[in-house]
Amino acid sequence: MGVARRGAGAVIERLRTGVPGFDELIAGGIPRGFMVAVVGEPGTGKTVFAIHFAWEGVREGDKVIYVTTEESRDSIVKQAAMFGMDFASAIDSGRMIIIDALMRGRGDEWSLEELSVESMVEKVIEAKRRLGYGRARLIIDSMSAFWLDKPAMARKYSYTAKRLLYRWDFTTLAISQYAITTSEAFGWGLEHVADGIIRFRRVIRGGRLRRLVLVEKMRQTPHDLRVHEVDIRDGEGMRILGPLEERAEDYALPERVKRRLARASEHYWGDEG
Ligand SMILES: Nc1ncnc2c1ncn2[C@@H]1O[C@H](COP(=O)(O)OP(=O)(O)OP(=O)(O)O)[C@@H](O)[C@H]1O
Ligand SMILES: [Mg+2]
Repeated sequence: MGVARRGAGAVIERLRTGVPGFDELIAGGIPRGFMVAVVGEPGTGKTVFAIHFAWEGVREGDKVIYVTTEESRDSIVKQAAMFGMDFASAIDSGRMIIIDALMRGRGDEWSLEELSVESMVEKVIEAKRRLGYGRARLIIDSMSAFWLDKPAMARKYSYTAKRLLYRWDFTTLAISQYAITTSEAFGWGLEHVADGIIRFRRVIRGGRLRRLVLVEKMRQTPHDLRVHEVDIRDGEGMRILGPLEERAEDYALPERVKRRLARASEHYWGDEG
């Protein structure tokens, strides 16, 4: 009575990502209608993350559209199948469309003839019309493919895509790749336009590749501010292991080694403090 409901859970509908341990970092999920940038170096888990998001959509009865520019449609379907996610039957039953922008000119209804933002958006809207009304998830994997030869266009293209897609009830993951040597130069446009930024990284620790994730931005969300370790497992897919600073195994290490690891991780995340 007279008390306004407050806080992140009160007024916002959130879409679960389907990655165990991740939704807790963002107050339950991605706010409906958001365009979230998923950024990171090759092999850090962006596509696997997106595959989970797509599959969670299928499970929840959302319409799912997956634009793939880096891998063929078959490759995405196979990757998903390894984690027990049956994209093939989701496609057959009209719950999902994968728009293939890699295998161009195959003449297939859902391949992109030309790698331009406008033709991609047009195709996505056509796909949404086909799938029908209702809450929808869109994955653009990757968005950076559209400005590879003209990085200065990143912001304009991102803005165009966001504006054109706005009224189609999409919650969107826009994936952006970084060339290691140009990590500062690519994708900034997207990150400003995006409502959220999820950044994946990789580090070598203890002679082994580790994957990390950080939610750098999520509008209207009291998100976790810590770096978390990520695991990708055959047959299961991605899950969040826990925050870097609280990993039990970190505490088992000698102080000297822990300090060195901490310095290394600060270095990787550009923390000068
Ligand atoms: N079945 C599997 N079991 C275990 N790990 C797997 C499996 N399939 C893929 N991976 C891991 O996931 C990694 C690929 O991750 P992903 O495709 O999401 O990277 P990405 O960030 O999208 O990279 P890129 O920018 O090159 O597209 C592989 O290098 C491998 O380490
Ligand atoms: Mg990928």
